[in-house]
Amino acid sequence: MWCLGFTGCLAILQRCKWCTNCPEGACISSNSSCTKENDCRINQREIFVAGNCSEISCEASDCAKCTASGKCMWTRQFKRTGETRRILSVSPAYDWTCFSHSLRNVSPMPVESCPPEPCPRPCHTLTSCAECLSSNGSDGGWQQCVWSLALQQCMSPSFLPLRCAAGMCGRLLKGQRASCNLSCASYQQCSHCIRHSHCGWCATHGHNGIGRCIQGGLNGTQDGTYTGLQGQSHCNP
Ligand SMILES: *[C@@H]1O[C@H](CO)[C@@H](O)[C@H](O)[C@H]1NC(C)=O
Ligand SMILES: *[C@@H]1O[C@H](CO)[C@@H](O)[C@H](O)[C@H]1NC(C)=O
Ligand SMILES: *[C@@H]1O[C@H](CO)[C@@H](O)[C@H](O)[C@H]1NC(C)=O
Ligand SMILES: *[C@@H]1O[C@H](CO)[C@@H](O)[C@H](O)[C@H]1NC(C)=O
Ligand SMILES: *[C@@H]1O[C@H](CO)[C@@H](O)[C@H](O)[C@H]1NC(C)=O
Repeated sequence: MWCLGFTGCLAILQRCKWCTNCPEGACISSNSSCTKENDCRINQREIFVAGNCSEISCEASDCAKCTASGKCMWTRQFKRTGETRRILSVSPAYDWTCFSHSLRNVSPMPVESCPPEPCPRPCHTLTSCAECLSSNGSDGGWQQCVWSLALQQCMSPSFLPLRCAAGMCGRLLKGQRASCNLSCASYQQCSHCIRHSHCGWCATHGHNGIGRCIQGGLNGTQDGTYTGLQGQSHCNP
């Protein structure tokens, strides 16, 4: 009876066994019958040692850990739908997950995975907004990265609750349909503003760091309301 509290195959202990092959596995007493205790009208396999649990082979939260053993692949084409069930998508569609490399051999269609592809670059290593938004993600399984306008940094959605809780990330851009080319007025800091060649910073006289980001060139704004935009080449700290 005391096997019933355990929910994963790795919880196998001497007096228990794991029944596998059904959509959900079960940990039962080694004396009991899988068919009796966990019937799903499919022939089940009994596992008595943790080393034979399938989950031991490919469980990882990132690509580097996943591929380290040489037996697993990091992919978006498979999804776990039960203890032993996998579904396959024609093209990469699911969150990144680690699976046994042997699934490639039973797949009826081509599988994109790492390896043979290199691991995707983690969001925090992408330094431009365009690279960040075109990324397919990877960290923590997510399929995208997020660009923070205020920090001018690319990050994994996993970090948003932690890093952006107090609003210090400003506006966030995400998804491949988002555009990095924002109106100049979205930039609230001089240094962010002048990174964009079509924008210039109008400093409010005498107030370091206060001003507006406006579309225009060295000669002024397009509509002529401002002339001599400052800070095209440098910003005061
Ligand atoms: C399981 O089997 C062993 C011997 O094979 C026996 O001593 C034990 O009482 C059995 N336990 C249960 C729960 O039937
Ligand atoms: C573990 O699995 C291998 C291969 O399926 C099998 O030969 C072996 O008997 C299993 N070990 C135990 C203790 O069940
Ligand atoms: C994202 O995934 C798509 C579909 O697999 C692929 O065509 C594209 O090149 C990937 N983008 C990057 C930046 O790897
Ligand atoms: C971004 O938008 C501005 C104004 O809408 C335009 O002048 C500029 O050429 C655009 N830049 C790119 C790289 O598309
Ligand atoms: C700025 O003005 C000068 C002189 O009026 C002109 O020669 C130059 O081409 C202008 N530059 C731009 C980018 O409009």
